[in-house]
Amino acid sequence: MRVRVTVNGVPRTADDVWPGESLLFTLRERLGLPGTKNACEQGECGSCTVLMDGEPVCACLVAAPQAEGRDVVTVEGLATGEDLHPVQQAFVDAGAVQCGFCTPGLIVTVADLIHRNPTATDAEIREALAGNLCRCTGYEKILDAVRLASARGTAL
Ligand code: FES
Ligand code: FES
Repeated sequence: MRVRVTVNGVPRTADDVWPGESLLFTLRERLGLPGTKNACEQGECGSCTVLMDGEPVCACLVAAPQAEGRDVVTVEGLATGEDLHPVQQAFVDAGAVQCGFCTPGLIVTVADLIHRNPTATDAEIREALAGNLCRCTGYEKILDAVRLASARGTAL
């Protein structure tokens, strides 16, 4: 089947989509956007987080046909040309990236959090990130990155 979806502001069409295929697969394998990571494929890790109509979702849990006519933003859609999104820059500056596998999902989640709540408390940050697992950093550097982005007045 054919799925039409706007991705990062650009109307895209994916052909030969299997009705049970995940949006994650469609983004990565059909639309050439590998930034969104596939770690668990079960909705447990958040590495595949994208925004769909402005809401964070696990792309591995969204059937591609459900995205028909929707607006999807992936991590590739956050930077402006060669300029990193401020949340991406904050992760770099805070040293919050190790293997990087969790990072795209975290970046999308944090960009959404700061957009919704620019002055999030630590408790609110921890709650917002509860669905994003990181096996490397111990989370402290990630919290530092969120605080840094927030202090810089970063918005999506
Ligand atoms: S790959 Fe989707 S939540 Fe883990
Ligand atoms: S940096 Fe490796 S999983 Fe988070």
